[in-house]
Amino acid sequence: MIKLPDLQYLLCVRPLLHVTSGNRQIFRSFPGDSTMSKYSARPPAIPTTLLDDDVVRIIRWDFEPGADTGHHTHGLGYVVVPMTDCQFLIEDESGSRRVDTARGMPYRREAGVSHNVVNAGNEPMSFIEIEYK
Ligand code: NI
Repeated sequence: MIKLPDLQYLLCVRPLLHVTSGNRQIFRSFPGDSTMSKYSARPPAIPTTLLDDDVVRIIRWDFEPGADTGHHTHGLGYVVVPMTDCQFLIEDESGSRRVDTARGMPYRREAGVSHNVVNAGNEPMSFIEIEYK
């Protein structure tokens, strides 16, 4: 019989690729990892840096349906401006939840947020993220 903590260990621990992108730390499973969960099989969201200067870094994120950012921790406070209606699945230490945000409705978060962001919708999704330095 496997004790619950051991089971959680078996389910959660897998090799991680550690990527640093600016002040953001991204953790993603190795693509060939046989213990890969259904989450790590998702296609990656595509970041495009639009502006990076002394004051802000502005990145557009494009997600095909089912794509995710990979788990990351925000080193900077940021504002998100959805360029499409966004059907988010947010995965963080408290679990996962669905959040719908309308195109053009911005929101702001403090530095330190740690999560994975998934396009839970059936359409391509994109937003612009403005990190302030
Ligand atoms: Ni994020």
